[in-house]
Amino acid sequence: MRVDAVLGLQWGDEGKGKVVDLLAAGYPVVARFQGGPNAGHTLYHAGKKVVLHQVPSGIFHPEVLCVIGEGVVLDPEVFWKEVEGLWALGIVPEERLVLSEGLHLILPVHRWVEAVSQEGEKIGTTRRGIGPAYADRYARRGLPLRAIESPSFERQVLGLTAYHAARFPDQPPPEIPEDFWRGVELLRRLPRVRLAEWLPQFSTVLAEGSQGTMLDIFAGTYPYVTASHTTIAGVLAGLMVPPQAIRTVIGITKAYATRVGEGPFPTELDGDLAAWLQEKGGERGSTTGRLRRCGWLDLVALRYAIQINGVTAVALTKADVLCGLPEVRARVGGPDSAPIYESLPGWESLEDSRFEGFVAFLEEALQVPIWGISTGPARADWRERLPLPTS
Ligand code: IMP
Repeated sequence: MRVDAVLGLQWGDEGKGKVVDLLAAGYPVVARFQGGPNAGHTLYHAGKKVVLHQVPSGIFHPEVLCVIGEGVVLDPEVFWKEVEGLWALGIVPEERLVLSEGLHLILPVHRWVEAVSQEGEKIGTTRRGIGPAYADRYARRGLPLRAIESPSFERQVLGLTAYHAARFPDQPPPEIPEDFWRGVELLRRLPRVRLAEWLPQFSTVLAEGSQGTMLDIFAGTYPYVTASHTTIAGVLAGLMVPPQAIRTVIGITKAYATRVGEGPFPTELDGDLAAWLQEKGGERGSTTGRLRRCGWLDLVALRYAIQINGVTAVALTKADVLCGLPEVRARVGGPDSAPIYESLPGWESLEDSRFEGFVAFLEEALQVPIWGISTGPARADWRERLPLPTS
C-alpha cells in the first residue's frame, strides 16, 4: 500500500479540495484522516454548488471509495443533512462510504458546550463542537463510532449530555434533535471497519487533509489552532498507516495567505489591499461565512510547514487572484513582529513571464518543486508543470 497525502501548508482553505478532486480518479480510495464539520469543501456538481463538510469530496467520483478515518470526529446530525443533500443530487453516498469504527462522534452537547462556555470565542472557532469532542476523546469519555452497536448507546449519549449540562447549570439544557438520531440510524447501515486491517488491501490511497499545518494542535500557533493533527503525523495516526507507506506528500499553498479566526498572522494586510483580496479571491469561510483575513505569502511559515511534513511537491493555488497587482510581496525572514519582505514584479496573467519568475523564486526559496498551478476556480483551470514524484 502506498499513501499519497494532500496537506494544507497554511491556515486552511488553500484549495486542497480541488487538488483532491483532480487526483481522486487515479486512486481506489480517498480517505479523510482528521477534523470534522469545521472543514468545508465547495464543489460544483452538474452546475449546482455543493458544500461538503463531512463526506469526503471523492464522493463525486463513481469509482472511488471514500473513507472517513479514525482521526475524524463525525457529527451524525450534520452527516444526515449532508447525505440528504447528496440524495437530492441523485448521488447515493452510502454505497461508497466506509467508516473507521474508532472515529469519534460529535454530540449535540459538544456544540452546546462550545456555545455556552464561550471558550471558542477567543480562538474564533467554527462552533461545530470540534474542540469539545476531541477533548472528550482525550479525556477518555468520548463515544467512538462503534458505540452505536451497543444496546446502551442512547443511555451513553444522554449520560455524556448530562455530564456537560451539569457543568453549566445556569444554561438552558442542550437538546438532541431528531436529525441526530436519523444520522445514527444511517451510520448503523454503513460499513464500519478496522482500518489497520481493511486499508492495506488497496494498492494506493489518497489521504485528504482538512485545515492546514499552522492550525495543527501541536505544530500550529497554539492556542489558536484546531484540535487535531492536520500534518503528516495526522495521516499516520488517523489512517493507521506505517511511515514507510507514505509516498508523495503534496503540500498546498495559495500565492498569498489567509486565516479565519483569531491568532498570529505576521503578514496580515489591512485596508484596501486586504479588501481587494477578500473580494477578488472570494475569501469568505465556506463553513461559517466569515470574511477571511488576508496577507502576503509567508515563506518562513511555509518552509516550516514543508519541513515538518516532508513535503515532496507543492501545488500553488489562487495566483490568478493576484493578476493585475503592480507588485507582489513574500515574507523571507525577520521575526513575526517585524517581517522582512522580498518585493517581486506583479503579473498581468499567468502566461506572463513575470509569473514564471515568481514560481522560480518560490522553488528556490522553498527547495521543493512546484508541481502544479491552479489557474482559476474551475476543475479545468489547472496546469501541471512536472510529473508528480511518485517513486
Ligand atoms: P475549530 O476547528 O472549529 O475548533 O476552530 C479552531 C480554529 O481553526 C479557528 O481559528 C478556525 O477558524 C480554524 N478552522 C477550523 N476549520 C477551518 C477550515 O476548514 N478552514 C480555515 N480555518 C479553519
